[in-house]
Order: sequence, then C-alpha cells, then structure tokens
Amino acid sequence: MGKVIAVANQKGGVGKTTSAINLAASLAATEYSTLLLDIDPQANCTSGIGVAPKDLNASIYDALTGQVDPEDVVVTTDIPFLDLMPSHINLVGAEIEMIEVDERERILSKVLTRLRRMYDFVVIDCPPSLGLLTLNSLTAANSVLIPVQAEYFALEGLGQLLNTIKIVRKHLNPDLEIEGVLLTMFDTRLRLSNQVAKEVRRYFGDQVFETIVQRNVRLSEAPSFGKPVILYDASSKGARNYIALAREIVEANEAEESASASNGTPTADTDAQPAPESARDASDGIPTPDSEEPAPPRRSSTPANGFSLSNS
Ligand SMILES: Nc1ncnc2c1ncn2[C@@H]1O[C@H](COP(=O)(O)OP(=O)(O)O)[C@@H](O)[C@H]1O
Ligand SMILES: [Mg+2]
Repeated sequence: MGKVIAVANQKGGVGKTTSAINLAASLAATEYSTLLLDIDPQANCTSGIGVAPKDLNASIYDALTGQVDPEDVVVTTDIPFLDLMPSHINLVGAEIEMIEVDERERILSKVLTRLRRMYDFVVIDCPPSLGLLTLNSLTAANSVLIPVQAEYFALEGLGQLLNTIKIVRKHLNPDLEIEGVLLTMFDTRLRLSNQVAKEVRRYFGDQVFETIVQRNVRLSEAPSFGKPVILYDASSKGARNYIALAREIVEANEAEESASASNGTPTADTDAQPAPESARDASDGIPTPDSEEPAPPRRSSTPANGFSLSNS
C-alpha cells in the first residue's frame, strides 16, 4: 500500500514543487515505484518533470470530475519507477465546481483508492493556498511534508497551516501525520539561515528533518530542462540533498513499519508517558508559531494516539 505524502505550505515560493519533484525522483531512483501527483493549477510540477500540459489528453482535473478513469490520467516519465498524474490550468475552476459535490473534501481520496495500491509512494504537490485542493490532498494523505524557506518570516503563516492540519485530523483524516518540516533554500554563508534553522527547530523539535536543502542553482535550473536535479546534475548539492531526504524518509518509514509490526502500535519511545489530558487538549502536540508563547516542541514520546507528530 503506497504511502501518500502531501507537500504543503500555503505560502508560494517556499520550495514545494522543487521538493515534490526531487523527492519523488529520488525515491524512484532508489527503485521505489512512485507517483508524482500535481494538484496545483499552475502545473509547474508537470512541466518541471518534462511533460508539456498541452500535449496531454487528460489531467487530474478529469479524474477529479470523474470524466476519466484515474489510471488513464497517469503518464510515465523519463525516470524509471516514476509516473506522473499531471495538472492543467483548467484545474483553476475545479475548486468552484467541487463546492457542489457531496463529500467535496474526499474527492481525491476516492480518485486514489486504487492508484495508491499500485505505488510505494505517492507525492502530492499542493497549490499555494489552503483551499479545497489542499484540503483534498491532506484528506487523502498519510502524511504532510512542510517545506519552510530559510528566510525572514519563515514561520509566519505556519500557524494557519497547522490549524488546518488539526481540523483535517478532527473531521476528515484522523491518521494524518507530519512527515517532517523541511528547511529549504538554506544558505550556509548566511547567519540568517542558521538563525531561521534554529528557530524552526525550537518550534518543531525533532519533527524537522535532519536533511536540509541548501540553496543550489542547479535546483532552479533543472525544471526548465524538464528534469529532476538527479538527471540534470547528479553530483550537485541539490541532488545530494534530495537523495538524503528520500533516504531519511524511507528509513523513518521502515522503522515505523517494523515497530508497528512488532508491537502493533505506531512508533513511540518505550518509556513514553501520555501527556496530561489538558496539555493534549491545549496543543494536540502541534506547536503554535503564531502565538506569543509557543508551546514547547513535543518529542517523539508523544502518545501513539494518531495525533503523534513524531518524525517517524
Ligand atoms: N534549494 C533551492 N535552491 C535554489 N533555488 C530553489 C531551491 N528551491 C526552490 N528554488 C527555486 O525557488 C523558486 C520557488 O520554488 P518552488 O519549488 O516553485 O516553490 P513553491 O512550489 O512552494 O511555490 C523556484 O524558482 C525554484 O526553482
Ligand atoms: Mg509550486
């Protein structure tokens, strides 16, 4: 059964598309069959992986509206083990059309019912908003990967995203986990980058990936050649960073699988003590970067109650 990872942050330009493309390609490079799903009407992911939207017969739009069988929307890419469910600009109208539909937040879940079984991983590139397309992605996903640009105001607006995740857990998808917070466009020469990294780790604790994606011009050049960075320049820093990220995710998921196989529960430290009810109510384990007094980050000893935010 494939693991569905939604790459989400309602801010534009934080590295969602770059991360979705290059994570998916890196997973495929290690021979995990992967579906890259572009649900952003801008279709940057689609063109960035080398598929011209104008050459397509169908897109995710047709699958969401039930006009085309989801499997028939999927196309292969130049990368072995990597398929694409492409987007199209006509997806702009989908959010409005979806409002009328019963269970409008679950449309993508239904589209993925059969497809998710055909892949080891499904990576969703979300649009820069918290609208219905992102809600559908979070409802269909097992986990969410949050790219955070190592820049001023990195944490701004994250409270809104975390709130949305809470709401989705409460009403739509109780098992939604945070796969991790990914620092992107990190510039080792800048003190600012290091300050932001420290700040992000202070809020999110061990939910932050060990892997940091550095600022690397190869990453920004690759999409114009329709290639993930591992095909464009395999020895670049960007390629190495995303391969490390894929490895980190695979290892965390394997650890989680073997833990749940041996004790029937998701990963949790053996000495984990359930937090007092009041603490759980107050935060759901989700830090609140927008509030004045942020809750301290919860370590992986968070109780395995489906609300665990441990990076596992
Ligand atoms: N690590 C990086 N180094 C250099 N440029 C990057 C990096 N990550 C993203 N970019 C560039 O920054 C811009 C925004 O990234 P993108 O992935 O499109 O963000 P989003 O999908 O969140 O809007 C793009 O031009 C992209 O090529
Ligand atoms: Mg994007």
